[in-house]
Amino acid sequence: MITLDINGRATRVDADPDTPLLWVLRDTLQMTGTKYGCGMGLCGACTVHLDGQPVRSCSTPVSAAAGKKVVTIEGVSQGTSSVRVAKAVQDAWQKLDVVQCGYCQSGQIMSAVALLEKNRKPSDADIDHAMAGNICRCATYVRIRAAIHEAAQSLT
Ligand code: FES
Ligand code: FES
Repeated sequence: MITLDINGRATRVDADPDTPLLWVLRDTLQMTGTKYGCGMGLCGACTVHLDGQPVRSCSTPVSAAAGKKVVTIEGVSQGTSSVRVAKAVQDAWQKLDVVQCGYCQSGQIMSAVALLEKNRKPSDADIDHAMAGNICRCATYVRIRAAIHEAAQSLT
């Protein structure tokens, strides 16, 4: 048994320590907001926060999450430390109608929240750097960048 702190709740799971965190979230806990894209740490669809840092849950063994705070898209705007930033990001995403097919967007939002937690006034270059690992096959990059600026503005 491994005890995880997921979205502020202690959660016990019976999993091999090498199991990717993504599969524990999606298959064991049925938290399907975190998406599976490449499975190789290349696309960012599976991004969650581990102690506030964006990580690729497809290439993070569940054992590495023990004793750390895991935040997923389901919990990022509900009572976690990122709540204000997450609300600003989600509101900006809606206002600018960022989403196309939606598949990549939970990962995009997790990376955007992590960026704005560290940097409340990111430049275009800061955004491009922070979001470089999140691929969008619908190419919503221009709207993502605008929404991050919009969220940053609303937080000042
Ligand atoms: S599914 Fe994890 S980075 Fe693509
Ligand atoms: S919105 Fe379709 S992959 Fe990003």
